[in-house]
Amino acid sequence: MHPKDIALLPFQTLAVASGSKSFRHNRVIGSPALNRRGLHVQRVKLAEQIADARRRRLRRLASPEHREMFGELGYISVENALPDELFAAVTEEVETTPFPAREMKQGNAVTRFITLSPEVLRKTPALAQTIRGDLFQGLMRYAGASNTDPLVTLHTVLTNPGKGRPDPQTAFHSDTFHPTSKCWLFLREVEMEDGPFSYVPGSHRMTPGRLEWEYEQSLTAREHVNGHHSGGSFRASEDELRAMGYPAAVPFPVKANTLVVADTHGFHARQPSARPSTRLALYASLRVNPFNPLAGPDIMDLPGLRGRKAQLLDMYRAAEARISGKKESQPLVGEVLAASPAVR
Ligand SMILES: [Fe+2]
Repeated sequence: MHPKDIALLPFQTLAVASGSKSFRHNRVIGSPALNRRGLHVQRVKLAEQIADARRRRLRRLASPEHREMFGELGYISVENALPDELFAAVTEEVETTPFPAREMKQGNAVTRFITLSPEVLRKTPALAQTIRGDLFQGLMRYAGASNTDPLVTLHTVLTNPGKGRPDPQTAFHSDTFHPTSKCWLFLREVEMEDGPFSYVPGSHRMTPGRLEWEYEQSLTAREHVNGHHSGGSFRASEDELRAMGYPAAVPFPVKANTLVVADTHGFHARQPSARPSTRLALYASLRVNPFNPLAGPDIMDLPGLRGRKAQLLDMYRAAEARISGKKESQPLVGEVLAASPAVR
């Protein structure tokens, strides 16, 4: 073992009790010997139990119908999520305001992120009202099993199937080993040809077949050729999904003003797009320490910090790039309209 690896070992051991997920970067989490003794599978099972307990305490945040849908399928889909007038005002703000944007290129897809800081939201009151609304916050917090502030950005996926390698997000994957929520309030219609989000119903729950598959993966994941897989975001083939006992995936071609909230511990993907497309959505993500028994609040709910998760993450990534000398994966590309063509 390299001396640097030995020095890191105590920290990597502590990380077992956190949301750390990389089999490649953490020698403890990625250890085939420990995983043969059940480390990974125990983390998966314990995280699920703790999330269930936290969610039970957050029942009031979602209606009985939404809770039932989520419990069974792992997602909640709501058409006409915003009242017509508010949706029209949000669309107007998003389609006409230039925002400072970041872009990430993955294969033939460019994802644009626009950080919605409290300063940006002062200029876009309808967006601010939507983000603070009970439906958006309630469903995110219920699905994410944490009554804490989600990270919110404007999210544009620009695909051009004729250009470059395939988009890696078109492979079915689980984001991490524990329950975690993401949502998209679609601001434009998404048709099948545009490469909609798709989700394997019920795959947020462990089946005996899934746990067996998780165990098998945990023995070899650190050496896996796919960097996302070895990083702890496991990829699964359709045959493997069937063997786990899950049904076929459901695609979400949606009308504008549809809110889709999903536990992305369940398997999901972007369907490959059949034509150049622009998917425009208000996006949120909520991922907390899976072993924290408390459902909230957390430090990011303090006045002055609330609503700044995305901004702080931007600052952290910029500092990390400066220190390591590596390029940022999501660099700033200047001020653009949310749905304008890709800059990168
Ligand atoms: Fe994902």
